[in-house]
Amino acid sequence: MCRESELYHPVTIGGLEVPGNLFLAPLAGYSDVAFRSLCVSYSCDLTYSEMLSAEGFVRGSGGTFNLLARDPRERFFGAQIFSSSPYSAARAAAAIAALPVPPSLIDLNCGCPVPKVVKTGAGSALLRNPRLVYDMVKAMKESCALPVTVKIRSGWDAASINYLETAGAACQGGAALVCLHARTRAQGYGGRAEWGHIRNLKEKCGIPVFGSGDVLSGEDAARMLRETGCDGLMFARGAIGNPFIFRQTRDCLALGRAAEPSARERMRMGLEHLDLCIRAKGEALACREMRKHFAAYSKGLPGGARLRAALVRACTAADYRETVEGYLGGIPEPGP
Ligand SMILES: Cc1cc2nc3c(=O)[nH]c(=O)nc-3n(C[C@H](O)[C@H](O)[C@H](O)COP(=O)(O)O)c2cc1C
Repeated sequence: MCRESELYHPVTIGGLEVPGNLFLAPLAGYSDVAFRSLCVSYSCDLTYSEMLSAEGFVRGSGGTFNLLARDPRERFFGAQIFSSSPYSAARAAAAIAALPVPPSLIDLNCGCPVPKVVKTGAGSALLRNPRLVYDMVKAMKESCALPVTVKIRSGWDAASINYLETAGAACQGGAALVCLHARTRAQGYGGRAEWGHIRNLKEKCGIPVFGSGDVLSGEDAARMLRETGCDGLMFARGAIGNPFIFRQTRDCLALGRAAEPSARERMRMGLEHLDLCIRAKGEALACREMRKHFAAYSKGLPGGARLRAALVRACTAADYRETVEGYLGGIPEPGP
């Protein structure tokens, strides 16, 4: 049995040494450079891009490559691709590895449940074809020198739980890490993640196993590491509106307790996020995209509903700041 403080540790992914084991999961629509670099500033050890179409890289689409732009603070960064073709995945991996500043690793998405993606045979459709997972990982490995990782789900549905087989195929193909989101495709993001699957995979798999699913607080993270024995974990919804969760987890593991960010700290994180987003995308786009983030930063705060109603009307950075400062002016100052 590990001491809690030993649950936070470095992890080796192929030839890559990452100093810690608390990662930011790929999050379509959220994990852009602004959010990722904010998470890194709160002690996240490795970030992933959102899932990107391998075809975009094959066609040489500048827009897709731009999504791999990273902040100098992001020392450890993974690019996640989705595809159902070993040929396209290999070409995408080669193009990504040839970037002037390549990512630290490339991940294959085997979990996306969205019909538009599944229809093409990619994402969670790959769970129904472990042999293809093997072919894709092998082709990616052969086309680039970067470590290749995979992110899978427990299975297609409750009647076809096959994470051991899918992970085994990825491992044989040369994957350096497998992350298990312990839900089936049929569950989407609902129901409970079955952490027992993560524990079982960890016991049987020869490469590092990361866990994902229902890690919404520092306490959840400590519990997942302790109960499953996994090598590390990825925060997803738990980090949205709370990039502080990485630091909370470190505190939980080191001290056995962690403070919740105050309303003031949450809103300051939101404004810091806004600044990073403006730097990356310009004010107009950043202000549109920050609405969903501010909805998350203000969730659960006293007077949060009124605050959100005002924030959705913000069109400029000045509107956001004025609304936030007005809100903070109306809540009590923290005690000494
Ligand atoms: C809005 C959203 C976007 C997501 N995008 C991706 C993605 O691009 N690639 C991926 O592998 N998983 C994606 N996921 C799944 C998460 O990475 C994670 O595995 C899942 O949310 C379970 O963790 P949680 O219960 O702690 O949120 C996404 C999840 C959410 C909620």
